[in-house]
Amino acid sequence: MNDMAAARPNGAPGAAAAPAIELNDLTMRFGVGTASTVLAVDRVSFSLAPGEFVSLIGPSGCGKTTILNLLTGLLAEEPEGDVRVLGKPPSAGNPDIAYMLARDSLLPWRSALGNAAFGMEVRGVPKKERERHALELLKEVGLGDFADKYPKALSHGMRQRCALARTFALDSPVLLMDEPFGALDAQTKLTLEDVLMRLWSAHRKTVVFVTHDLAEAIALSDRVVVMSARPGRMIADVPIDLPRPRSVRKLQSDHRFHEYYAHLWGLLEQGVGDE
Ligand SMILES: Nc1ncnc2c1ncn2[C@@H]1O[C@H](COP(=O)(O)OP(=O)(O)OP(=O)(O)O)[C@@H](O)[C@H]1O
Ligand SMILES: [Mg+2]
Repeated sequence: MNDMAAARPNGAPGAAAAPAIELNDLTMRFGVGTASTVLAVDRVSFSLAPGEFVSLIGPSGCGKTTILNLLTGLLAEEPEGDVRVLGKPPSAGNPDIAYMLARDSLLPWRSALGNAAFGMEVRGVPKKERERHALELLKEVGLGDFADKYPKALSHGMRQRCALARTFALDSPVLLMDEPFGALDAQTKLTLEDVLMRLWSAHRKTVVFVTHDLAEAIALSDRVVVMSARPGRMIADVPIDLPRPRSVRKLQSDHRFHEYYAHLWGLLEQGVGDE
């Protein structure tokens, strides 16, 4: 399995294209110049080709969310090294990026349709157009019949479907996902992973997906980037050579899936206690 750990510069298909995301020796220190400086991310380098799906795994506090935040340009403090999104340095409010978090963060006073259309509204898409597009996406995630329901009338899984619809409705080429299914039960999670795979196949975005769930990382990703405990360093960049389209459920009975699982688990164990 040694070849699994080999870095593959631009990932699988489309390797000739310019990277959609590039991190070069990215280092992030919080509280520089204070008594409590924290080295959160230490010289991390990886890139994603357009349309690639890459998961980021590593122990709690290793800087996964920090890396996503750095890509959005929303952090008050500056990193060292170089970060590029579609060839440009990060900038707050970049419409090329959509960000989805673990908690659905739906607005309780808006219907599923109003929520799915919300991101487009912020970006100034006209009402008719955004409602048409939001409804399309709600149908894609299986919520077509719930467009007029409010979040309190939706299960947690349904709310995450709605959040997926809102995120994909933005039509941003780059999608950052921070443990989006982390708070779901195992069965709902498998279902939502399949929904995400369908959306990703249809819309082909470049995705950085943060998760603590190795099975989820393997099932969804073209590559898995493994980080050590804080300060977060890159341990490995593991290509997942499993055929697509994948059924997350069926993969559970594929021996290669379990080999990847053991391999990633071993890498994570190496990186624990690095602090
Ligand atoms: N805005 C901030 N100011 C100061 N320190 C921060 C800030 N954001 C993150 N950190 C620190 O950076 C380190 C990495 O945090 P981060 O949230 O990126 O970890 P993570 O890998 O996402 O963890 P988890 O898996 O628990 O979500 C932690 O030590 C955290 O305390
Ligand atoms: Mg985090």
